Amino acid sequence: MTVSEAVEALEGRFDAVVAAEQRVEPRDWMPEAYRATLVRQIAQHAHSEIIGMQPEGAWLTRAPSLRRKAILLAKAQDEAGHGLYLYAAAETLGVDRAELTEKLISGRQKYSSIFNYPTLSFADVGVIGWLVDGAAICNQVPLCRCSYGPYARAMVRVCKEESFHQRQGFELLMTMMRGTEAQRAMVQDAVDRWWWPSLMMFGPPDGDSPNTAQSMAWRIKRHTNDELRQRFVDMTVPQAQHLGVTLPDPELVWDEERGSWTFGEPDWSELKQVIKGQGPCNAQRIERRRAAHEDGAWVREAALAHAEKQKERNR
Ligand SMILES: [Fe+2]
Ligand SMILES: [Fe+2]
Repeated sequence: MTVSEAVEALEGRFDAVVAAEQRVEPRDWMPEAYRATLVRQIAQHAHSEIIGMQPEGAWLTRAPSLRRKAILLAKAQDEAGHGLYLYAAAETLGVDRAELTEKLISGRQKYSSIFNYPTLSFADVGVIGWLVDGAAICNQVPLCRCSYGPYARAMVRVCKEESFHQRQGFELLMTMMRGTEAQRAMVQDAVDRWWWPSLMMFGPPDGDSPNTAQSMAWRIKRHTNDELRQRFVDMTVPQAQHLGVTLPDPELVWDEERGSWTFGEPDWSELKQVIKGQGPCNAQRIERRRAAHEDGAWVREAALAHAEKQKERNR
């Protein structure tokens, strides 16, 4: 067998595994571009979980009650856990977590643009749970069937926790909507600010998303950005009605024929600006992450020294 015949056989086996809806595992041969795509996507996902702790974390010391503080603390800790599963999944592809963190804080890898917006009131905590975790669920449920085994399995656990996050957000908003006029106004203001950035979480429109076709062929992705965005809108509009808030989109209208909500076009130039680093909080988020990484250096050193000693003892 020549080298090219051997590669062809490996490719054939990989394609067959993907086509049969089986999982590709770390020990399996995979095309380099598939591996690189997964590393980029899983790293970006892991970074989003970790950076995503910041906007809500800002309210931990200002939560209005012990109960709200306990819920928010639990949620932030869940997100840290999601980051850990995902960094571990990325490491099965042969990259190192330290290297990924370095790429994040030097701006060479991205995280979700949604976390570059500020949290101005406690209603934002509820709206993030409802809309941001809601959008994350739409994105992540199909990833439970991703062709790469470790990523798919991490998503199963993550999605269970995300649905708790969405429910706590909705419950917080319901409570505020039953409160005073000022509380209702806070909720509406938060919805007005987070609605469009939440729609942008699904990425650019399909016509502007060149990698989607390949990701779908590899069964990493199951639906296009626009399909997921539509699913999110259809899921969320009845919830907004139940809450009694107005979604800030004058073009939002029920389309009887499609059985779906028609909605306006997000401001894609804003998304491009935020991705480029020009969002309201980009610099602050990265700076905070860098400082936390540097402050934690002694913990990593101590853990490494401990592992070394353990190894020595076992010898
Ligand atoms: Fe999460
Ligand atoms: Fe979450």
